[in-house]
Amino acid sequence: AVRTRRQIIDHDRVASYAFAFDIDGVIVRGPETIPEAREALRMLNGHNKYNIKVPYIFITNGGGKSEKARCKDLTKRLGITVTEDQVIQGHTPMKDLVPAYKNVLVVGGVLDSCRKVAQDYGFQNVYIPLDVMKWNPSVTPYYQLSEEEQKVARDVDFSKISIDAILVFADSRNWAADQQIILEILLSKHGVMGTVAQDPSENHVGLYFAHSDFVWATDYGLSRYGMGALQVSIAALYQEHTGRELQVTRFGKPQRGTFRFAEKVLSNWRRNTLEEHVENMNLEDEEDGDATESEDEAGNDAEGITLQKDSKLLLELPPASTVYFVGDTPESDIRFANSHDSSWYSILVKTGVFQDNKTPKYQPKHICENVLEAVKFAIEREH
Ligand code: G3P
Ligand code: MG
Repeated sequence: AVRTRRQIIDHDRVASYAFAFDIDGVIVRGPETIPEAREALRMLNGHNKYNIKVPYIFITNGGGKSEKARCKDLTKRLGITVTEDQVIQGHTPMKDLVPAYKNVLVVGGVLDSCRKVAQDYGFQNVYIPLDVMKWNPSVTPYYQLSEEEQKVARDVDFSKISIDAILVFADSRNWAADQQIILEILLSKHGVMGTVAQDPSENHVGLYFAHSDFVWATDYGLSRYGMGALQVSIAALYQEHTGRELQVTRFGKPQRGTFRFAEKVLSNWRRNTLEEHVENMNLEDEEDGDATESEDEAGNDAEGITLQKDSKLLLELPPASTVYFVGDTPESDIRFANSHDSSWYSILVKTGVFQDNKTPKYQPKHICENVLEAVKFAIEREH
């Protein structure tokens, strides 16, 4: 039966709480989709015993592809529509660096995938290590470019380019070559390959990492080294070489900058979900022919939703009452959810990095077998 707007708002509302999900080790493991993930998200889309829609976003430290490509992949795996406004990858907040740097070296990902992402973000001149290796193969004496790599590498004279910043976007596919090139640029005179700074004041190249995960969960039984491990390795080499500590700016979880970014994304997404819900509601009212009746029903509901005379919704959206963050890595996910806002509720699952026989380094508010159990637990806790 078609319900009036008031009935829908009272009985079939959008939740005041919300979810944020980690991806690797919670939703996927390498090429495999974690079986319970589909049902978990279906429940949040309203298929639960309370008929309530619960807004959710994804916060992954992963990357190497555009946000659009990531959504396409999640949409296909999960059988739901995931949009770009719902996804934050490790390198997403690096968009904010566009005005700061003209020439950037972007590291990581398959072939030139990260060059494309950085260009989409608006970076002006984006170089990748393969360009450097094409320019002068002697830079990496034990590695020759494959045919495929030759094709995507650009012809650039790096003796005439001053690299302003190095942005590690995704996991390196060639640690030896990437480390060699990163170190050379960090030790160079003003970011020019083939030169050596005589004094630290001659080098102001910024070094940024999309995240610092030491390990991460794939479809292999044990965790694999991640970008954080590369960072440790580069820092050790830099220290050995210069005696100085490496200066790095980190993004991703558990960094505060990423948390602020995530809060903005979540708030916009909650607004979207509410607006979409009310739009559907309006359609139902019109079909029901009771549009005039609902105009008389101006009022507020408990979540701060105001229905006005012209049927327009004024959203004075308060922050989510609780944000359930489901992750598999205590050091990044649980630390992230525990440290920035007390309304975030951390749930650790056992499908990724965390192993049941160990005590997590950062204590979650709750531990679950998998993402579906986490969603069920949170919904029951709320109702
Ligand atoms: O490189 C990806 C990885 O380190 C972690 O991804 O989704 O678990 O934050 P995620
Ligand atoms: Mg994870």
